[in-house]
Amino acid sequence: MISVGRPYLPNKKKLYHLLDKIYANTWLTNNGPLSKELRQKLGEFLGVENLLLCANGTLALQIAYKALGVRGKALTTPFSFIATASSLEWEGIPFGFSDINPCTFNLDFTLAESSLSSGGFDSIVPVHVFGNPCDVEDAEMVAERHNLKVIYDAAHAFNVKYKNKSVLSFGDASTLSFHATKLFHCTEGGAVVFKKKEDLETAERLINFGFDENKEIRGPGINAKMSEIHAAMGLAVLDDFHLIQERVQQIANHYRDELKDYFMLQVWNEGSSSNNSYFPIVCKSEEELRALIKEMNDKNIYPRQYFSPSLDTLGYSSHTSGKMLKSIEIASKIICLPIYPEMSDEDVKSVVRVLKK
Ligand SMILES: Cc1ncc(COP(=O)(O)O)c(C=O)c1O
Repeated sequence: MISVGRPYLPNKKKLYHLLDKIYANTWLTNNGPLSKELRQKLGEFLGVENLLLCANGTLALQIAYKALGVRGKALTTPFSFIATASSLEWEGIPFGFSDINPCTFNLDFTLAESSLSSGGFDSIVPVHVFGNPCDVEDAEMVAERHNLKVIYDAAHAFNVKYKNKSVLSFGDASTLSFHATKLFHCTEGGAVVFKKKEDLETAERLINFGFDENKEIRGPGINAKMSEIHAAMGLAVLDDFHLIQERVQQIANHYRDELKDYFMLQVWNEGSSSNNSYFPIVCKSEEELRALIKEMNDKNIYPRQYFSPSLDTLGYSSHTSGKMLKSIEIASKIICLPIYPEMSDEDVKSVVRVLKK
């Protein structure tokens, strides 16, 4: 079976060596030595400061909203994974959607500007969809004009650079997911990168029940800490990341060369790198999409209709005027092709063969 993704399993010996350290330390969670090591290594690898590890990417979003004091309305994209919207809903933050650019699949900040004119917004939550950086300069201009906090959902944008700088260094905060399906993962995990150290310090308390470094409770918090076992998986995967990145790049290059004349491909932000964690293609119609999925499934190939449906169609509490037509249309015609490091050349060719038939 060739499915859309397959979790990367690092070398067992490497992982066992790290697990031995956990046994030797007798330290399983609460900012243990392996979490500290992973935090430091990730900060260096990604080229960012003020990085905080969390239990998962959804909590990373919730912690970012809380640490930044987001309470008023938020504006976000309907073309994302459900966690972008459900994290707002869960935090009791009212939100509205604004439509996307159908070529980049990211928020269109010209449209966002008119959605914001109704007033009452205090934050914007753009997503770097499939790791493609949003127009961060436009986002920041809009945020400045409307006095908004910017929280990027960068769940897919691990190790992506924009103008040679980590894309995570833009905005007031950016969040990452280290879920098993991600290119870099900890089985479950996530992180927030804050612009300001003081926000990081607030978040450090928030993820640990509100305790400060003197073990005094400074306000309400939650348990969003990463355990040592998850950090061990992260350290083992990080060690292999160059191999993971190299292989998915080869696969993506092959898909791009073979499929660019057959399907609409995501238009990438100029001046930014790609981590090739996803390979979405847009079909001409929903009918073509259904037929392709069937043909692929018949050959034991399982792509994913991702993201679908458009989040504005779910009826979540929302301050949105009108339908998000571009997002709805892309959601009805898009599929993400299988891409993962262990995929063989023959597997890649068999996917291409079905698509070019
Ligand atoms: C865009 C986006 N945001 C947030 C999340 C949530 O991350 P997690 O699964 O680690 O909670 C995901 C997960 O896939 C995602 O794709």
